[in-house]
Amino acid sequence: MSEALLSPAFALTPTPVQLAQHVSEALGREVYVKRDDQTHPAYGGNKARKLSMLLAEARARRATDLVLVGAAGSNHVLATTVHGRALGFAVTAFVVPRPHSPEAEESLRAAAALGCRLVPTRSEWTAVPRLAHELLRLRLRGRRPWFIPPGGSSSLGAVGYVRAVEELARQRANGELPWPDVMVCVLGSGGMLAGLAAGVRAVGLPCRVVGVGVWSAWAANRMALTWMARRTLALANEPGRDSPYAPPELEVDLSQLGAGYGHPTEAALEAQALFARDGVVLDTTYTAKAAAGLMALARADPRPRRFLFWHSLSSAPLEPLLGSGELPEPQVLALLR
Ligand SMILES: Cc1ncc(COP(=O)(O)O)c(C=O)c1O
Repeated sequence: MSEALLSPAFALTPTPVQLAQHVSEALGREVYVKRDDQTHPAYGGNKARKLSMLLAEARARRATDLVLVGAAGSNHVLATTVHGRALGFAVTAFVVPRPHSPEAEESLRAAAALGCRLVPTRSEWTAVPRLAHELLRLRLRGRRPWFIPPGGSSSLGAVGYVRAVEELARQRANGELPWPDVMVCVLGSGGMLAGLAAGVRAVGLPCRVVGVGVWSAWAANRMALTWMARRTLALANEPGRDSPYAPPELEVDLSQLGAGYGHPTEAALEAQALFARDGVVLDTTYTAKAAAGLMALARADPRPRRFLFWHSLSSAPLEPLLGSGELPEPQVLALLR
């Protein structure tokens, strides 16, 4: 059994659940928010849950270096840097271009300040041979590199979200919320969606699980994600025990992509304004698009009475991370266009 399953790399707080009063009134349903923006005080959001599993595995394999690919200024690169550096790993990220936003620039600056080695790369495809070369180069230097999957989305990373649903089931048992009819989350690289679908099966409480795509249509393949959810559930299951579970099911909603990754939509801006009235701060790249998906679902279908929105963007302030460390190289900053 993987060490990560027994002992995550760092502690996560059970995140609060909040009834979003204004959103609920506007939609005529109960809308709850699972505040995964608060998973960790240094840097939270959904990446922390996945990394608590992935970094435990890297530690168990005695890795020295983490190597990854991500968009410049992405939450994935910053989260891996924050939690990886705290555990003593060196971090190298091959970063690809994305649209400029003040948040992306701040995130890129924070990753550089924390000592992430940022290597500019034209696209995910050109990153592949460079990454293979980097892994070899590190090995030849006597280091033990460990590859972190894109977005932290592997079956092991997704087990972090099985644990999150187990946490939610305990909160239900404590009377903190009624069980939702539908859960909605962002769908980027898919680990969160796959983990939630597996988690819903693991706790045995029925609920639709919907991922709202923000990245690209080809990455949001329902069959592939269902396969990842199955593998995640098998991994999260106790070893040697035959699985009593029905196969996980998940839904993919691509209606909110708009002009593509990082481009805001009207619906996302509307969702951002509405959720802000309940004190829930959303960004237009990820979380506001998913919230727009939830609103569209509620408006189109009068049946579900209770929705749960997984808020996956860290709300920890970035200023303490900026410190007096390195600045990103000009060619790295130029990736934000
Ligand atoms: C804030 C935020 N929410 C959600 C996601 C998507 O999660 P996943 O990659 O597991 O689909 C991301 C991915 O980068 C993200 O940064």
